[in-house]
Amino acid sequence: MSNRTLIRGGLVVTAADEMHADVLVEDGRVAAIAAHNSPVSEGWTAARAIDATNKYVIPGGVDAHTHMELPFGGTFASDTFETGTRAAAWGGTTTIVDFAVQSVGRALREGLDSWYAKADGNCAVDYAFHMILSDVNEQSLKEMDLLVEEGITSFKLFMAYPGVFYSDDGQILRAMQRSAVNGGLIMMHAENGIAIDVLVEQALAEGRTDPRYHGEVRKVLLEAEATHRAIQLARVAGAPLYVVHVSAEEAVAELAAARDKGLPVFGETCPQYLFLSTDNLAEPDFEGAKYVCSTPLRPREHQAALWRGLRTNDLQVVSTDHCPFCFTGQKELGRGDFSKIPNGLPGVENRMDLLHQAVVDGHITRRRWIEIACATPARMFGLYPKKGTIAPGADADIVIYDPHAEQTLSVESHHMNVDYSAYEGRRVTGRVETVLSRGEVVIDGRTFTGRAGHGVYIPRSTCQYLDH
Ligand code: URP
Ligand code: ZN
Ligand code: ZN
Ligand code: ZN
Repeated sequence: MSNRTLIRGGLVVTAADEMHADVLVEDGRVAAIAAHNSPVSEGWTAARAIDATNKYVIPGGVDAHTHMELPFGGTFASDTFETGTRAAAWGGTTTIVDFAVQSVGRALREGLDSWYAKADGNCAVDYAFHMILSDVNEQSLKEMDLLVEEGITSFKLFMAYPGVFYSDDGQILRAMQRSAVNGGLIMMHAENGIAIDVLVEQALAEGRTDPRYHGEVRKVLLEAEATHRAIQLARVAGAPLYVVHVSAEEAVAELAAARDKGLPVFGETCPQYLFLSTDNLAEPDFEGAKYVCSTPLRPREHQAALWRGLRTNDLQVVSTDHCPFCFTGQKELGRGDFSKIPNGLPGVENRMDLLHQAVVDGHITRRRWIEIACATPARMFGLYPKKGTIAPGADADIVIYDPHAEQTLSVESHHMNVDYSAYEGRRVTGRVETVLSRGEVVIDGRTFTGRAGHGVYIPRSTCQYLDH
């Protein structure tokens, strides 16, 4: 009884259902769900009862794309696993999947071990890892198989960033062929980095150095071309493909065309592409640097295609690509040369709220909100049904969400370790009230009641979404 919590009277929303129900949590898991005030739940007793009347009871968010402490552009992403996972909890996200990085010339094992060490004992919520392949060779291909068995079941490859993370088409094909055998899922950063680097050089030589040129050289056509190429390579390899941070309408069209052929091709977009645009990149006085990420923000017209893709399931997941750099001292590294601005935006704390606002605005339904933010990322990356839903046996990662509360997103009130908000001053309807992580209350109103080290590492099974 002392290990039991009862959540009464809320509207339980999962990807599949909505019902007024009571939820019994025991020993960190969902023990039972029953209709509110039914004879079954009337009989339940618990040490702690949470009144969720007029609130939603939703699964904790699963953010399948974060970069805590990522070394990038001569600096490090400013959220550590401690600060970043605490901010995630504040925002109703109870699982992150971060990217361990293979350094060029080094083993996957070495990169992965250093990510285990960075996260171990520091996380406020549960976490898992993908692996970035920076150096596809015989050795790393062999290591992929071992990692899949260990619970690292997805691998990011880059068609961008020559000299850093870049893989050529031959390396990509080999990694895809390997994944077709070992069950790993290839995640693709789809931008033609070789062509982009030519345009970067030309822009800088002509004195076009402001942040907005970051968006101009990283052209829509070069995202669409790389997306198309990645899809064809995956077809040749007979492998499924997940394209990360899709931002351009033309890239969505490539995914849609592939899916209409029945190919196992999936796409993710991020809140920044749904809510921000090149208008932000063009902000004066170098403020545009706050919005430099890759793929870049696009003209506002692209947003409708992204929302449509989320509704038609041509896009399946919204994750944040959380990769914060402070304006002062970090983004500023690129004053006078946009190519030196570290790429990435903060957002791990804002995703659930922004997507709830999309429900309020009529872009997506309430169940679709949970599907793209919780259930599908969990299925895609082998965490379901432990994560991503509220069902008997699932981890009790549960958010009590007040759909009527109003809040203003701001650096003044957020908990991410970064000196600006990409959504400064934006009013949203809805707010996280209580967060349970494996049955423990980690956010209680306006108080963080969790602790660094509560979050544990979760090994993953292979993709559970291939039948979709
Ligand atoms: O700008 C971004 N997206 N930074 C993080 C690295 C990546 O490509 O995902
Ligand atoms: Zn990327
Ligand atoms: Zn379609
Ligand atoms: Zn990323």
